[in-house]
Amino acid sequence: MATINEHYLKLKAGYLFPEIARRVNAFAQQHAEAKIIKLGIGDVTEPLPPAIVKAMHSAVDEMANRETFHGYGPEQGYAFLREKIVEHDYKPRGCAVEADEVFVSDGSKCDTANILDILGPGNTIAMTDPVYPVYVDTNVMAGHTGVANERGEYGGLVYLSATAENDFTPDLPTKKIDVVYLCYPNNPTGAVASKDTLTRWVRYAQEHGALILFDAAYEAFITDAAIPHSIYEIDGARDVAIEFRSFSKNAGFTGTRCAYTVVPKSVTGVDGSGQAVALHKLWSRRQSTKFNGVSYIVQRGAEAVYSDAGRKQTRELVSFYLANAKIVRDTLSSLGFDVYGGVNAPYVWLKTPGGMSSWTFFDKLLGETHIVGTPGSGFGASGEGYFRISAFNSRANIDEAMTRIKGKLKL
Ligand code: MLT
Repeated sequence: MATINEHYLKLKAGYLFPEIARRVNAFAQQHAEAKIIKLGIGDVTEPLPPAIVKAMHSAVDEMANRETFHGYGPEQGYAFLREKIVEHDYKPRGCAVEADEVFVSDGSKCDTANILDILGPGNTIAMTDPVYPVYVDTNVMAGHTGVANERGEYGGLVYLSATAENDFTPDLPTKKIDVVYLCYPNNPTGAVASKDTLTRWVRYAQEHGALILFDAAYEAFITDAAIPHSIYEIDGARDVAIEFRSFSKNAGFTGTRCAYTVVPKSVTGVDGSGQAVALHKLWSRRQSTKFNGVSYIVQRGAEAVYSDAGRKQTRELVSFYLANAKIVRDTLSSLGFDVYGGVNAPYVWLKTPGGMSSWTFFDKLLGETHIVGTPGSGFGASGEGYFRISAFNSRANIDEAMTRIKGKLKL
């Protein structure tokens, strides 16, 4: 008999978003008349910007001709896209990133999960709490943790609690950690990290030989000019940090799939004898073995994000979702909710009323208004008593959702 990876048995029954979808489907079956508005998973709703569609159409035409057809592409991504990424996302911010340090992929979810392939088993791993559940679950799957306690915290992981009390900015760990996941602008709280905060993290990593896994999937939503968009804006970060970026939320690629990860050649880990080894070499080996690259058509679409028209159109898309977030924030604040995030991020994070548990509020909101959000406790123990509303939706749905909350939610 084939044996199984028993670490999977330590996981909570379902991944957060499919679990929410399951509950919503059950509700919908019992309430056929309900017009459910989904502000749960952060999935974009607006069509791809025209500049991107045009580039993808012409890439399809290329694929239709023998002379311009493309077979397997480079596993690391086409140079035309990697060079545009460096030119637009890094050079203007003074970040020393080279095109051959950029690895194009089909998503940050996969990359933040797959990165564990190149790290050893004995690391002490820290993450902010609440947190994007992928970081936790993939460490459980990889056998880096013990079992979960009654709060859902896995033995062996270091949780850095981020709540209203510390302004969603946890202190540096008091014990030595080897790897830390940071996500800014933060999913789920919508908090941002100042240059000071990121500098403290980079100094910590330098001092302790730690690796920072920096998830910047939401950087396009930063409106405050003082907030860094990349960890590489911090001196020394090239030696200690890997950065994950995505076209999902700024350019509407959640269904199209394209992202990238920067692994500077200067970031190292150590082997069993304490010798430094470049992570770039390992990630390159991993990707070329397990991944055949993102489709040519999609990479041409991603390249168009950086054209004049593409930049204008994606900026408009981001502004559209941020305007949604403002509507949500303003409505909830006017009703007396404690509301966070939603200014430099597409997520509004709120305190549940009257100390209600996150799942109780989920049921109440769904039951009374037919609106779906995400229970904060689904993101970790420190998310209990909070709730996330995603601003990714049409304006009509956001307006309708806010009207229902004002008129129907019994507070
Ligand atoms: C979320 O809702 O947290 C995001 O959609 C998750 C993701 O991007 O995978």
